[in-house]
Amino acid sequence: MSRPRIAVLASGRGSNMEAIADACADGRIAADLALVLANDARARVLQSAEQRGLPRVCVEHRAFEGREAFEHAMLAELRAKNIDLVVLAGFMRILTPLFIREYYGSLLNIHPSLLPKYPGLHTHQRALDAGDREAGATVHFVIPELDAGPAIIQARVPISEGDRADDVAARVQREEHRIYPLAVHWCATGRVVLENGVARKDGEAISVEAESTQSIGNGQG
Ligand code: GRF
Repeated sequence: MSRPRIAVLASGRGSNMEAIADACADGRIAADLALVLANDARARVLQSAEQRGLPRVCVEHRAFEGREAFEHAMLAELRAKNIDLVVLAGFMRILTPLFIREYYGSLLNIHPSLLPKYPGLHTHQRALDAGDREAGATVHFVIPELDAGPAIIQARVPISEGDRADDVAARVQREEHRIYPLAVHWCATGRVVLENGVARKDGEAISVEAESTQSIGNGQG
């Protein structure tokens, strides 16, 4: 059987793309990173993809009249590369049902909060303003409602006295780079699926509480 083909969609730095590329290269993800797609030619993720010799494309959202025309152009790129699994990694465009339908169940996002807390932007500042003692990140399936799809895995980090949003972001990102490759591997290999709106792992409905307590060492399993 041929290996599943992944596309990473990103708008910024691309550190999650790098974590996923590394995991594809060293076998922690049993799939090929077949395309890096950015919506802005200035996105650093494109330089990083070039340095790694990864297939890459820029679909400038500004060049299109409306979201759906932009999404048709992205879908054409994904189809041309026979992409099986689409991984959003800091992709700063809201997707419409047109795109989501096409990859429903094969479309993942990472969000920098312990969803359902703090969907949307400025998550770490909102956690600090609320006096939270912990922050984190969630990998979830994408559904049309923003940041509301079924969760696959979460990572928690403590918030320390005197932390600023940047401190929390750095701590959370280290965890993102650990949990996103795990979730991508599970989805690429069919261990995790979205079934009738429920995320299941090995057939069991996922409870993110249980997943988030896994130690780094035994996660791949
Ligand atoms: C990550 O923190 C992720 O949670 C959010 O966007 C950020 C992307 O960072 N969705 P990078 O471009 O992967 O470094």
